[in-house]
Amino acid sequence: MGYNTWYQFRTSITESEVVRQAELLVSSGLAAAGYRCVNLDDGWMAAERTAHGELAGDGAKFPRGIRWLADQIHALGLRFGIYTAIGTRTCQSLPASWGHYDQDARTFASWGVDFVKVDDCGGLPAGTTVDTLTEHFRQFGACLRQHNPDVLYSQELPIHQIGKPSFRSAVRASAEFAHMWRVAHDEYPLTRENASPMILGHLAADVELHPFAGPGHWNDLDMVAPNFPASGWTLADLHNQLSVWAMEASPLLISADIGALPPAALAALKNSHMIAIDQSGEQCSTVIMNADIEALMKPHPEGGIAVLFVNLGTDTSTGRFALSDFGITSARASGYNVWTGETTTFSEITVTLESGQTSLVQLKGIG
Ligand code: GLA
Repeated sequence: MGYNTWYQFRTSITESEVVRQAELLVSSGLAAAGYRCVNLDDGWMAAERTAHGELAGDGAKFPRGIRWLADQIHALGLRFGIYTAIGTRTCQSLPASWGHYDQDARTFASWGVDFVKVDDCGGLPAGTTVDTLTEHFRQFGACLRQHNPDVLYSQELPIHQIGKPSFRSAVRASAEFAHMWRVAHDEYPLTRENASPMILGHLAADVELHPFAGPGHWNDLDMVAPNFPASGWTLADLHNQLSVWAMEASPLLISADIGALPPAALAALKNSHMIAIDQSGEQCSTVIMNADIEALMKPHPEGGIAVLFVNLGTDTSTGRFALSDFGITSARASGYNVWTGETTTFSEITVTLESGQTSLVQLKGIG
């Protein structure tokens, strides 16, 4: 859990803005809620390596250097993350780590970097296959760990292969050596209209990948609250996203101006029930359907079952479920709605949702 610069700043990041976001993470209470990693994405590095072949920060954006920035972040009690890519260039055509895995791992460790995101942007030799790419990611991970055994390793898989058997093999391999890996496309376009299709598309891409997720290694759906509220997303869109990410146990990296988040969005991101479901140590593995309503479930860490209802259809739909569908053997159950805080009791479940709408509840048998 933490913060990433990408959807807010893209490459226009500066050290003062990053420090400001880190301070806001603390003052807003988000850090206390668990968002403790402050990660630079693409755009932090100088256009050329140093005379010694080392990566260096862009001197105009980071005049005091990346080590100084890491120290500021650490002084706030937070962790510091950085970005590079597996080939010669980042996705913004800046220098990346091909041919420098050991050297860059050493540089990052010397700066006090706690988290490294390694993107897949090209600049790789012709003939690179998903298998050889996976080997490069494995090697880079070994270098990162050698120089910092506690490093968190986040990688971006070849997302243009999503849905293909080769992508699944890459995920399987990543689970052996990375802490998280991207399993969905970037969140573009960031518009009100695209919010639901994007969120449901990400869910569909991830549902079948549950066998590879577990403590210390997670399927990554990409960042939360991307440039919220400038993106045009509503609070309901944010609730939908957080509900899906929590059920899928995806990392929660906020990518928005923390200072511009309305109180309701801050409250959503800090919602302790949503966070508990996300951090439960398990990605949802059971999915059932009735009408257009999909119901995803997993054990709730505080008792009962976490259930996410999603309307996958194009119209309003009503799903009807028996308590036994969720493994509940008692005649009645209670449902705690994570977003409204309301509890209701019932003997069967009837759920009506608009197209793309979700509902996240904690279900408990009574008696
Ligand atoms: C890719 C990644 C994004 C971001 C950009 C940076 O598109 O998927 O998350 O890191 O590169 O250029």
